Amino acid sequence: MDSRKRILELRESLHRHNYLYYVKNAPVISDFEFDALMHELQDLEMFYPDMYDKNSPTQRVGSDISVKGGFAQAEHKYPMLSLDNTYSEAEVADFFGRVSDLLNEPFEICCELKYDGLSISLLYQDGHLTQATTRGDGVKGDIVTNNVKTIKTIPLVLTEGNYPKEFEVRGEILMPWTSFEKLNEERAREDEPLFANPRNAASGTLKLQNSAEVGRRKLDAYLYYMLGENLPYDGHYENMMYLADLGFKVTEHIKKCSTLQEVMDYIAYWDKARKDLPVATDGVVLKVNSLRQQLNLGYKAKSPRWAIAYKFQAEKALTRLNGVSYQVGRTGAITPVANLDPVQLSGTTVKRASLHNADIIENLDLHIGDMVYVEKGGEIIPKITGVDLDSRTFMMGDKVEFIKYCPECKTKLIRYEGEAAHYCPNINGCATQIKGRIEHFVGRKAMNIDGMGPETIDSFFSVGLINDISDLYNLKVKDLYRLERMGIKSAENLINSIEKSRNIPFERVLFALGIRFVGEVAAKKLAKAFKNIDNLMSAGFEDLVQVNEIGNKIAQSVIDFFAEEKNRTLIDKLRNYGLQFSFPETEDEITNNKLEGKTIVISGVFEKHSRDEYKAIIENCGGKNSGSISSKTSFILAGDNMGPSKREKAEQLGIPLISETEFLTMIE
Ligand code: IVH
Repeated sequence: MDSRKRILELRESLHRHNYLYYVKNAPVISDFEFDALMHELQDLEMFYPDMYDKNSPTQRVGSDISVKGGFAQAEHKYPMLSLDNTYSEAEVADFFGRVSDLLNEPFEICCELKYDGLSISLLYQDGHLTQATTRGDGVKGDIVTNNVKTIKTIPLVLTEGNYPKEFEVRGEILMPWTSFEKLNEERAREDEPLFANPRNAASGTLKLQNSAEVGRRKLDAYLYYMLGENLPYDGHYENMMYLADLGFKVTEHIKKCSTLQEVMDYIAYWDKARKDLPVATDGVVLKVNSLRQQLNLGYKAKSPRWAIAYKFQAEKALTRLNGVSYQVGRTGAITPVANLDPVQLSGTTVKRASLHNADIIENLDLHIGDMVYVEKGGEIIPKITGVDLDSRTFMMGDKVEFIKYCPECKTKLIRYEGEAAHYCPNINGCATQIKGRIEHFVGRKAMNIDGMGPETIDSFFSVGLINDISDLYNLKVKDLYRLERMGIKSAENLINSIEKSRNIPFERVLFALGIRFVGEVAAKKLAKAFKNIDNLMSAGFEDLVQVNEIGNKIAQSVIDFFAEEKNRTLIDKLRNYGLQFSFPETEDEITNNKLEGKTIVISGVFEKHSRDEYKAIIENCGGKNSGSISSKTSFILAGDNMGPSKREKAEQLGIPLISETEFLTMIE
């Protein structure tokens, strides 16, 4: 068959299967078959670059090339207005009465859920998604088309129907609860700040400059508004159903009502039922259904007269407090956690809630057995926001008293001046803190040592194989494979992974050390500024705060860390084991013309630098980065796990594969 025809056929078929899978939740082919079609299309598109189509299903994956200098902006054809809000049913009744008086004819109200995400405007021209714009200031917003394309429920191409030549669809971009919780768990593991709620997470994600990362974070969208000159129906509800037929995922549970009572019933029903929805909602939106009547009612400065939002009270659940347990973090900070009777909240079962610190417990005047209100906030586990004093009986349980001694090593806790948390000061003797530091050290963004989860660390620690992070570099296969759950193969893999970590660059070693307040960004800044560990260890407070983004808190913490004899000994040991303690000269420093005229494709996973860093190095040395292999490719910078199709293609065209080490020698 003609390959060009096949490309078109594959695109159409993938658009349809995508819709059946993501919007309809009713796939008709297996994931394997879907992937096979996608790979076939990817391969064909590589051979026929002239057939490039920015709305091909292959373009949903996003690019890991960062957009430089932020997003371009576009003016909205129709301003993006907001809605009047109310928390009161009486004001809903006022709205209904006002509309009735002004129209003086029969009307219908379309009731919808108010999704709690960020609004987006999608422009379709000749059946193609041509632009996606954020709300911005309502008049103009950021163009985020590439990021939006990674959302699988948003159609890129409309296949059937007699749609208007040009129209706009608006809706809400959301991060479902499950994706949000997974993302925050990941961020907690990597010591990155958590998102306070799915809305912030969705908004932070959509504004990322790297659309491949946007794709990984699994956003979704519900659409609730169609605008344009020749809309198919006079009814908003009918236009929504029409959009649904075209393949859009429109707001679910939408209902037309003719009486105020029906509207109130809808509100009452969804105030409860929304707790089981997979996404966050914060109210309902009531819209006059007829577009003609909407026009009659008109607009105020910032909002329409034909709509209103009724906001729900923050979602809360009431449950029993059974006890408080205390966790010790790797820095010695003590976190009190409430153990609760399991209760449903925003689609998940809650059994534990964070109590943050002693002051919060005191202010709540908590007693065991209290009925407490839990709410979902930014943390992975929800927080307790209040006590239902009415349900306290004369049988009241004991008052919750914050512990005085470390639950793990029994050392007396201390509280630093100006800090809310209690700490266990036994940094070098408290097993939980030591294990926590090792967990942090081996983490993906730190030394990236595979196969060392908390259980493995615990078992190595308990048999005395590791007492601090430096002991990792002394482990032998023969010490490990006899341990429980550790076969010879996993022991070998683990030792290999530890070996490999000796090449991890200085800034990540610095982050891995787990110095308080020194996260990934601070570690990078410090490594770059001081070049090696000796300079950093001898730096004074004033030298440290000179560095961009290093404040007093971080500076003092670095000084305190290196002031400890034990930490200096640790650094010496790690240095003797061959870990990297100086900043490589490459990356920023190397600027030459050794790659001039060369077109290079980067593929696979690397150890010494990230892909983005390699891209920068290539550009600094006069080379050109390219995303796909062709006869023009000079060579492939090949890391681990290079994709089989790329490897095959390179072989076919006789393009050489250059390893990371060869490449670094080449540009030296
Ligand atoms: S209609 C002119 N419908 O709420 C009215 N908005 O406070 C256009 N929202 O910016 C908006 N769910 O981001 C509409 N079903 C829904 C909605 C909804 C959420 C958001 C939207 C808007 C904000 C208004």
